[in-house]
Amino acid sequence: MRRGLLLTVLLAASVTGPGAHARAMPDPSQTPAPGNEVPRIPLSRAGYSPAVNYQLQCAGCHLPQGQGAPRNDVPRMTGFVGNFLRVEGGREFLVRVPGVAQSALDDGQLAELLNWILARDGMAGASTPEDAAPYTPAEVERIRATRLSNLPDTRARLIQSMRDRGIAIHDGMPHDDNHNDNGDSR
Ligand code: HEC
Repeated sequence: MRRGLLLTVLLAASVTGPGAHARAMPDPSQTPAPGNEVPRIPLSRAGYSPAVNYQLQCAGCHLPQGQGAPRNDVPRMTGFVGNFLRVEGGREFLVRVPGVAQSALDDGQLAELLNWILARDGMAGASTPEDAAPYTPAEVERIRATRLSNLPDTRARLIQSMRDRGIAIHDGMPHDDNHNDNGDSR
């Protein structure tokens, strides 16, 4: 009996308390905080270069030079990622990984960003085949529309195809051929 009363009082307090009220009723005369007056431009219309988009959208996980972070399951892209273009299905994989397919960037920006990552004088270096065709926005749109159903299996299959072709797997992830190839394997 006493317990029931206490509950009722508590309940009433939580419904009518100042906290509940403040949350339920936004102040119609509220103005944006200083510096926030102009609505943010959506990323897809901000017009940033691929290098800037990489730093904003990818570097948080992949690190500024694409070094990756094996402890967080992020593979190294530096000097390696272009090898995906050497095996069947790899070209699609690079567009379908969640960080790419689900990014806030549009198809054109993603094409540009992937081409930037895969440049032979950039992050991917010589891992990208010399004759690799650049991604086009239409290609990214088409590939992106299909979900990657099983990332670990798909990736493992692609890595195996690389091994079969004699490509050393310097992706920074824990397996045999990563023994200190560039001083930071873990
Ligand atoms: C929240 C962390 C995170 C963000 C942000 C992120 N990625 Fe990733 N990325 C990963 C992880 C983890 C993997 C490994 C596969 C997996 O588990 O998804 C990966 C894999 C990849 C791969 C395949 C490389 C390989 O060796 O398998 C590419 C290419 C890639 N990311 C590109 C990008 C790009 C481009 C962006 C920015 C638009 C981006 N990622 C943003 C975490 C992230």
